[in-house]
Amino acid sequence: MSAASEHRAPTRVLQRSGALVVVFADAEALVDYAARELAMIASDCVDEQGRFDWVLAGGSTPEDLYRRIAGGDLSLPWARTHVWFGDERCVGPDDPQSNYRMAHAAMLGTAPARAATVHRMKGEQDPARAAIDYEAEIRRACQLPAGGFPAFDLTLLGVGEDGHTASLFPGTPALAIRDRIVVENPVAKLATTRLTMTIPTLCHSRRAWIFAVGARKAAILKDVLGATRDAARWPVQGVRTARPVVWWLDEAAAAGMG
Ligand code: 6PG
Repeated sequence: MSAASEHRAPTRVLQRSGALVVVFADAEALVDYAARELAMIASDCVDEQGRFDWVLAGGSTPEDLYRRIAGGDLSLPWARTHVWFGDERCVGPDDPQSNYRMAHAAMLGTAPARAATVHRMKGEQDPARAAIDYEAEIRRACQLPAGGFPAFDLTLLGVGEDGHTASLFPGTPALAIRDRIVVENPVAKLATTRLTMTIPTLCHSRRAWIFAVGARKAAILKDVLGATRDAARWPVQGVRTARPVVWWLDEAAAAGMG
């Protein structure tokens, strides 16, 4: 990576519907900037509270970010870091579809990330059982009171071309659930069931970052970051945290935004 690209600042910073939209010339500049920001947040959290609880996004977009973070020139407090997953496909950890497999190959399997405490959603289990067990693991690890929700320090998310985030797809049952941290979610259009954190869980995060790169995301971003609010139609709009949600876009994805 050229020295110049290592610190390329955003080309635009916008406010949209209470969120912050940070736009970069290309994915490489975005990933480098976000990785550095994430490393600083992780260190600050460990300094302040002794640990950093970080929820990973699945899909393909975050893979470059994970590789950049594992790149070696950034030091994260891995031994004090708890890594969680916002959602998972109902497959085993070695399946090409597995979000865990992607994150492990890109980052978690590399030294020194191996020092982190990784909480894997067990996609190979019965989905209802896996959701109950993961929720119990969150309650234990975060020492939650009955009915409480975890305030993860940073939750990473992507957005699908239909406006879904995590595995909260339009028209799926999980969207309406408000009294669970993690649920199994049948997704008819994919003819599958997914495991996913719920909207209240995502909204309790101390920070939520949503990543979208490439021209194929331009249309949905124009909708979800536009004036119309419809979280049933576009579930990603349901993610609203105490701090402004931060959208990380490249110019190709931001093309539809004035
Ligand atoms: C998943 C993700 C999902 C993803 C979006 C965007 O398990 O697939 O949790 O919500 O973030 O579908 O996916 P891409 O990054 O591949 O565009």
